[in-house]
Amino acid sequence: MSVGTRSAQDVSAACAGGAAELGIDPDQLPDGLVVADEQGRVICFNAAAARITALPAEDALGQRLEKALPLEDLEGRRWWQLTDPYGGLAIRRRQPERNLLLPGGREVLVSAQYVRTRPTGPVHRVVVALRDTEARRRTERSHAELIATVAHELRSPLTSVKGFTATLLAKWERFTDDQKRLMLETVDADADRVTRLIAELLDISRIDSGRLEVRRQPVDIGAAVGRHIQAYVAAGLAADRFLLRLEQPLPALWADPDKIDQVLSNLLENAVRHGEGTVTIDITPTESPREGEDTGTSVTVSDEGPGIPEESMNRVFTRFWRGSKRGGTGLGLYIVKGIVEAHGGTITVGRAPQGGAEFRFTLPVSAPAYLT
Ligand SMILES: Nc1ncnc2c1ncn2[C@@H]1O[C@H](COP(=O)(O)OP(=O)(O)OP(=O)(O)O)[C@@H](O)[C@H]1O
Ligand SMILES: [Mg+2]
Repeated sequence: MSVGTRSAQDVSAACAGGAAELGIDPDQLPDGLVVADEQGRVICFNAAAARITALPAEDALGQRLEKALPLEDLEGRRWWQLTDPYGGLAIRRRQPERNLLLPGGREVLVSAQYVRTRPTGPVHRVVVALRDTEARRRTERSHAELIATVAHELRSPLTSVKGFTATLLAKWERFTDDQKRLMLETVDADADRVTRLIAELLDISRIDSGRLEVRRQPVDIGAAVGRHIQAYVAAGLAADRFLLRLEQPLPALWADPDKIDQVLSNLLENAVRHGEGTVTIDITPTESPREGEDTGTSVTVSDEGPGIPEESMNRVFTRFWRGSKRGGTGLGLYIVKGIVEAHGGTITVGRAPQGGAEFRFTLPVSAPAYLT
């Protein structure tokens, strides 16, 4: 209807046309792209720019750059005045990425490129890239949360260690041997807790950075589960708390025995601590959907306890999630999943036929090529 709108459409078409020569649709770019001509008027404002600035492209096109993008730095200074792309030093070619503010305090990461037709000639185009800071803020927030949680988890055992040692040092004579032993046992257990927590955090950092090493060798998974059960029975649990069912023959399994032990120990400990009744372990070969392909081994650990509520199932493998008061640090299943995936396997959670929780992980054979 108005002249302004028509000219905006024209320039928009020009922007798309220029990009089309390169086979690119600016609206498909994940980052905001804003281009201004030699007079500082916006000739391109892609879909991501419109989303990030909450300004429709039709309103931005044909406008002056400083009106379409009224950016301010964190001290409240107007960025276009400060950087003066058209009047500044004729050798300047770019502005490095900066964190700037849009009206309403919206944060945005901005960088700009000045295009000149001759090396020190006038600016022909200003190309501005805009990036949303939401993704960056989200990672920063999750790091901050992780640090806060870790600090909190470390503080409670250390507070207890400090409390008991200080009391013993100050009033050594006033306690009986039994009382001293009890306090030292608590200190010992708390020190173990800190050590374990630190080992878990190191595992997590390896998993998160993809540095978890898997040293493969043949693993007899049935025997490994048997050893864990024996350890529980030796520690006083009734032998009939466990039911191990092995389906034979199993394909050879090449895996890291220490890490598989860690997986089994976490799953069995969870079943005993958070579950109830008989803990059933089923070990079966997995059929490959395609013939002639590697098969694998599946291990299912199920119990007869309360199970995991349906709505929490997708959260059990996240760090620090714990469902009940009896929970530990909530890192166990996160590490289990990391280890299984480092082996190229998968893990799922569901409801056991007896009503409790059921964890099932599958490991591919992964034998060295010369053996397959
Ligand atoms: N077999 C199970 N039955 C019921 N709830 C379970 C079972 N296994 C895990 N959970 C729930 O999932 C939560 C997370 O388990 P995870 O092993 O990650 O942490 P945790 O056992 O609390 O602590 P950690 O293993 O780090 O000592 C537990 O706190 C518990 O609420
Ligand atoms: Mg656990």
